[in-house]
Amino acid sequence: MNLARRTMNAPALAAIYEKAWRPALFYLASGRSTTADRRDAVTTLRLDGSQKVLDIACGPGNFTRYLSNALDGDGYAIGLDYSAPMLARAVADNAGPRVGYLRGDARTLPFAEGTFDAVCCFGALYLIPDPIAATREMIRVLAPGGRIAITTSHRWDPPFSRASQIVAGWAGLRVFDTDTFPELFAEHGLTDIDQQIHRSLQYLSAARPT
Ligand SMILES: C[S@@+](CC[C@H](N)C(=O)[O-])C[C@H]1O[C@@H](n2cnc3c(N)ncnc32)[C@H](O)[C@@H]1O
Repeated sequence: MNLARRTMNAPALAAIYEKAWRPALFYLASGRSTTADRRDAVTTLRLDGSQKVLDIACGPGNFTRYLSNALDGDGYAIGLDYSAPMLARAVADNAGPRVGYLRGDARTLPFAEGTFDAVCCFGALYLIPDPIAATREMIRVLAPGGRIAITTSHRWDPPFSRASQIVAGWAGLRVFDTDTFPELFAEHGLTDIDQQIHRSLQYLSAARPT
């Protein structure tokens, strides 16, 4: 197991992730606050009713509960993660009437095709050993008319691109180029593909046609 994956399984990280680790590192990486990221997630996933939401690699549930707050009626959000310490934090810190947590692997989701109206994965595809398989799984469980959103790494422009790849490789993180995810989304027939680059992170959203 590489450094990044070991870190994500450490109870000490789970304890500080939501309040300190994520706000600081993501601000450094993207220039954006977690508050802005959460608001954009609700907006781009178009959450405003009884949708079924799947938050892949949910960590301590720091997005899952926030997303669930935008739902009503029969709506709910499920957070899925493989790290037991992260899920223990999620249950302790981010429980709610429309939230559930599940231990699982993003590469083999235990759901039928088209189960969810919205599927997201923030800050994790660069950690997952087969990120393309995980993204295909997200698309598989997305219902017609549903929306998908991801945040992942983005290669720095020259002259820092090589350095960023070396540092990321040492830590066990993958760095993606500009085209990988838009092309993958288009290949699967997704539409309304929007990509925004924020320093060394990229944010993408798209829709599955009805
Ligand atoms: C940096 S946290 C992201 C938490 C949250 N989504 C956010 O944006 O702040 C990354 C999470 O990915 C999870 N993870 C990594 N590989 C995974 C996999 N194959 N399946 C499920 N979760 C995974 C880790 O356990 C960790 O909790």
